[in-house]
Amino acid sequence: MHSPLQFMITFSYFLIFFALLSSNLTQQTTLISPVSKDKHRNLFTLSVYLKTPLRPTKLLLDLSFLFPWTVCADAASYNSSSDHYIECDETFCDYLGFGKPSLLCEDCYYSNLTTSHSQCPSPSTMICASWPANPITNVVDAGYVLVDTLALPTLNQSTHHGQLISLSNYTFSCAPSYFVKGLPTGVTGLAALGRSKLSVQSQFGSALTTSHSLAICFPGSTESTGVAFFGTHGPYFVFSKSNKIDLSKNLTYTPLIHNPIGITDDFPISPPHNEYYIGLTSIRVNGQHVPINASLLTINEEYGIGGTKITTRIPYTLLEPSIYKAFTELFIKEASSSRFNLTVTNPVKPFKVCYSAKGLMVTKKGPKVPIIDFVLDRENVVWRIMGANSMVRVKNKKVDLWCLGFMDGGVKEKTSIVMGGKQLEENLVQFDVESNRLGFFSLLTSHHSLSCADFKVTDFAKHIK
Ligand SMILES: *[C@@H]1O[C@H](CO)[C@@H](O)[C@H](O)[C@H]1NC(C)=O
Ligand SMILES: *[C@@H]1O[C@H](CO)[C@@H](O)[C@H](O)[C@H]1NC(C)=O
Ligand SMILES: *[C@@H]1O[C@H](CO)[C@@H](O)[C@H](O)[C@H]1NC(C)=O
Ligand SMILES: *[C@@H]1O[C@H](CO)[C@@H](O)[C@H](O)[C@H]1NC(C)=O
Ligand SMILES: *[C@@H]1O[C@H](CO)[C@@H](O)[C@H](O)[C@H]1NC(C)=O
Ligand SMILES: *[C@@H]1O[C@H](CO)[C@@H](O)[C@H](O)[C@H]1NC(C)=O
Ligand SMILES: *[C@@H]1O[C@H](CO)[C@@H](O)[C@H](O)[C@H]1NC(C)=O
Repeated sequence: MHSPLQFMITFSYFLIFFALLSSNLTQQTTLISPVSKDKHRNLFTLSVYLKTPLRPTKLLLDLSFLFPWTVCADAASYNSSSDHYIECDETFCDYLGFGKPSLLCEDCYYSNLTTSHSQCPSPSTMICASWPANPITNVVDAGYVLVDTLALPTLNQSTHHGQLISLSNYTFSCAPSYFVKGLPTGVTGLAALGRSKLSVQSQFGSALTTSHSLAICFPGSTESTGVAFFGTHGPYFVFSKSNKIDLSKNLTYTPLIHNPIGITDDFPISPPHNEYYIGLTSIRVNGQHVPINASLLTINEEYGIGGTKITTRIPYTLLEPSIYKAFTELFIKEASSSRFNLTVTNPVKPFKVCYSAKGLMVTKKGPKVPIIDFVLDRENVVWRIMGANSMVRVKNKKVDLWCLGFMDGGVKEKTSIVMGGKQLEENLVQFDVESNRLGFFSLLTSHHSLSCADFKVTDFAKHIK
C-alpha cells in the first residue's frame, strides 16, 4: 500500500518528468546569421543561404523596409532551380503584404523573367508585383514577387554552425540589377527585419511555428562578426574565456511604440508602423538632463511626426535641431569640467564637436568622455552610451581627433530622435513584436569586457567581395 504522501511524491515526480518532456518537445529552433559591419558607412549586413543549390548571399540588414528584396532580373545575377513567381490573384497578392500598389499585377512577359527557370508560360500571364526601394540611394522601381529557398544554420551550442534549416517559400521582391548600387560590396539585396509579416523573422517564425522574435548583436568593428538570432527569446550565449554567459538575462526592456502613420520616404509605398519606435523621455549627459521640449518626444497621432526610432540606415544618431543644440552645448560643458578637462578643437566635417586625440584617455569602452544616457519610460530604464558608442575617430595625415557622433537631423526629418548604427554597435538588441517590447544590453557596460565577436559566429559569406 502506498501512503498518500508516497503517492504525492510519485505523482509530483511524474509531473516533473512530464514537464521536462513537454518542454523538450516544444523546444525552439534557434537559427543564426552572421552580422558584419561595412567599412565606410556603419551599414550592417546579414549572411544567409539562398537559391537551389544553396549559395551564400549577403543582404543589407534593414530595420525599416516592408519586405525583403534581392536583385534577380537576369540569370547572370540570379541562377536558381527553385525560384517561381506567383500568378496574379489580386486578393492573394494583397494578402501577401507587399504594400498598397502591389494590387497592380505585372505582365509577366513585360517584366521578362530571365532567371533560368522562371520563364513566362505565356505573354499574357499576370504575376504579383511590388515596389522595391533601395534605402541608401532612395531609388524605387517596379519588381515582381518571387518565391525561393532561404536557409540559415541552427545554433550549435558548441559554437559551430549546426545543420541548415530551409524555408522553401521565402517570399521577396525581385529588384532590377542596378539596385546593388550604393550597397556595401558583395551585397545583392535587402533583409527586411521590421515589424511586417514579410520580415525575415516573421517568415521563418510562421513556417517553423517558432517565435518571431529577433535579436541582433551589432559588431563594433569591420574585422569582427556579430550575430542575429531568429526564433528565440534566449538564451544568447557568449563565450568569454572559459565561461559561457547567457546575455538574455541582462536585457533591459522598454515597450515598442506604435506609430499610427507611416512616414517612411519609401515612395510609393507608405507602410504604416513598420518601424521600431521607443519611448525616450529624457537624455542625460554626465548625469545632467538635456533641456528638451517634451512635445518633441511623443508621436503626433495626426501626422506621425516626433518620437524616437531605431534605424540601421544612417551611421550616426540624428537629433531634432533644438535637441541637437541643447545636447551638444551640455556635452561641451560637461566635457570641459575638471573631471574630463577637455577643450574642443577645430572640427572636421560632417562633425561639429571634436577633441584632439592626444588629450584623451582611451580604454576598451572607448575614449573617456561624459557618459550619455538615453532614459526610456522611467528614470531607471537607461540605454547607456559609452565613449566607444558616442565618439568617432578621425585620423589622417592632417588630424587625429575624436568627434561626437551625433548629427543635427534638420527641419525635414520627421522623427525627433533617430538612433543610428554607431550607437547600436556592441549592443545586443532584441526586437520582440509579439510581446511588443524591445530588449537591449550594451556589452560595453559589462564588467566582463565582452564584445559581439564573443558569440563566436563565423561568417560563411565572408569570401563574397
Ligand atoms: C546556373 O547554374 C547551373 C548549375 O547550378 C549552371 O549549369 C548554369 O551554367 C548556370 N547558368 C548561368 C547563366 O550562370
Ligand atoms: C524575354 O526573354 C525571352 C527569353 O530570353 C525573349 O525570347 C523575349 O524576346 C523577351 N521578351 C521581351 C518582351 O523582351
Ligand atoms: C555541433 O557541431 C559539432 C562539430 O561540427 C558536431 O560534432 C555536433 O554534432 C553538432 N551538434 C549539434 C547539436 O548539432
Ligand atoms: C510559407 O509556408 C508556411 C507553411 O509551410 C506558411 O505558414 C507561411 O505563411 C508561408 N509563407 C508565405 C510568405 O507564404
Ligand atoms: C514645443 O514644441 C511644440 C511643437 O513643436 C511647440 O508647439 C511649442 O511651442 C514648443 N514649446 C516651447 C516651450 O518651446
Ligand atoms: C587641463 O588641461 C590644460 C591644458 O589641456 C592643462 O594646462 C591643465 O593643467 C589641466 N587641468 C587639470 C585640472 O588637469
Ligand atoms: C548580468 O547581470 C548580472 C546581475 O546583475 C551580473 O552579475 C552580471 O555580471 C551581468 N553579466 C554581464 C555579462 O554583464
